[in-house]
Amino acid sequence: MITTADSVVVAYVSLAMTSIDRGDAPSSVAKHAPDPVPALLIGRLAVDRSYAGLGIGTALVTHVLATAVDLNARAACRAVVVSAIDQAARSWWERLGFHPFDPADPGNPDLYLLTGEIEATLRSFG
Ligand SMILES: CC(C)(COP(=O)(O)OP(=O)(O)OC[C@H]1O[C@@H](n2cnc3c(N)ncnc32)[C@H](O)[C@@H]1OP(=O)(O)O)[C@@H](O)C(=O)NCCC(=O)NCCS
Repeated sequence: MITTADSVVVAYVSLAMTSIDRGDAPSSVAKHAPDPVPALLIGRLAVDRSYAGLGIGTALVTHVLATAVDLNARAACRAVVVSAIDQAARSWWERLGFHPFDPADPGNPDLYLLTGEIEATLRSFG
């Protein structure tokens, strides 16, 4: 959570460990992975509208991705997954390098980023 000096919430993210049925996973997620596939779930991520566009959302995602790398070094974490709340959010996640679980279904809100892709993603953030 990010707050002002007066403890007003500016942005937050919630995380939980999750797993993906290997049979339902895209091949890049399922390849050489256990069943179910261990992953880190971004439950909620939001930035107060008056602080939008300042890079706070991207900074929170950077923190989440670094957490996934750290978790994967201690216990398996194959991917970071998120369910986009709407089409705009989906575009935002795709801009950060996340992939749709089902590219053929634009109505499917679920996206993922392989932990193995995170280093390159973080480099692209600059
Ligand atoms: C999505 C959200 C987290 C972005 O937070 P933010 O702090 O404003 O994002 P950042 O400042 O890090 O990124 C802004 C960049 O993303 C772009 N962007 C913002 N919303 C976008 C969208 N819907 N689609 C594509 N790009 C978007 C901006 O144009 C800006 O680009 P620029 O850096 O080239 O100028 C915030 O708008 C939000 O809380 N939305 C409501 C909840 C939500 O959608 N959460 C996602 C969970 S599913």
